[in-house]
Amino acid sequence: MKKIIKITALLLMLALSTTMMFGCGSSDVYKVITEPTFPPFDTTDEEGNLTGFDMDLMTAIAEDQGFEVEFESMGFDALIPAIQAGSADIIAAGMNGMDPARQKKVDFSDFYYDSGLVVLVKEDNNAIKGIDDLTKDMKVASQIETTGGDKATELADNGTIAEAVILDQFDTCVLQLINGDVNAVIIDLPVAKSYIDKQPGKVKIVGETLNAESYAFAVQKGNKELLDKINAGLKNLKDNGKFDEIYDKWFK
Ligand code: ARG
Repeated sequence: MKKIIKITALLLMLALSTTMMFGCGSSDVYKVITEPTFPPFDTTDEEGNLTGFDMDLMTAIAEDQGFEVEFESMGFDALIPAIQAGSADIIAAGMNGMDPARQKKVDFSDFYYDSGLVVLVKEDNNAIKGIDDLTKDMKVASQIETTGGDKATELADNGTIAEAVILDQFDTCVLQLINGDVNAVIIDLPVAKSYIDKQPGKVKIVGETLNAESYAFAVQKGNKELLDKINAGLKNLKDNGKFDEIYDKWFK
């Protein structure tokens, strides 16, 4: 009899520890991908860790919805293919969710930030006062596969400018502008402001905003379960003031 009790107790303990190891604590971990030359949405801190408005917002959504996230960076043009291939779960990259071509490839969450493109030139440039001042002899840079890249390519294709310089990273676009390798950069307004803040007196925004776009998170087509969680989390954060807190942190 004693033996049976001992064995039962042992089995119970075993069962308990197994649930503790695998049962509890096992929340879903989603891989969130971004391209980190897009401050203040997607950038890196002094130690090279991914940080920004998108990372904070995604982390807060995960907390609210009881899942975990791990972040990874890659080229902007690799983001949608990674989601399509199923090698990552969520794009958090200041991505315009109103783009019809992208909507065919991935599913977008509700919008979380309204934005638009602007023209960036060197601080001492007095010739270019807006997009209409770009001419046939000029080079305009932007990031690969972005809305800004599309705009620059369109200007080159219709003969307005000499060349669209399509680069992997936005920080290289700004560097080329400062170095005088290109005449202008087409870039999202809040990101242009952030680059100006980092290096005051080097570049400036000219003219009107060129378009209207809205940023959204992206998931694999048909992944309604994950999309519903993201949207529910986003709504809760807007309702409970956490969205505003994160917004204030990154946009002052
Ligand atoms: N908003 C633009 C787009 O949707 C640029 C996004 C670039 N984002 C980035 N993390 N580099 O194409």
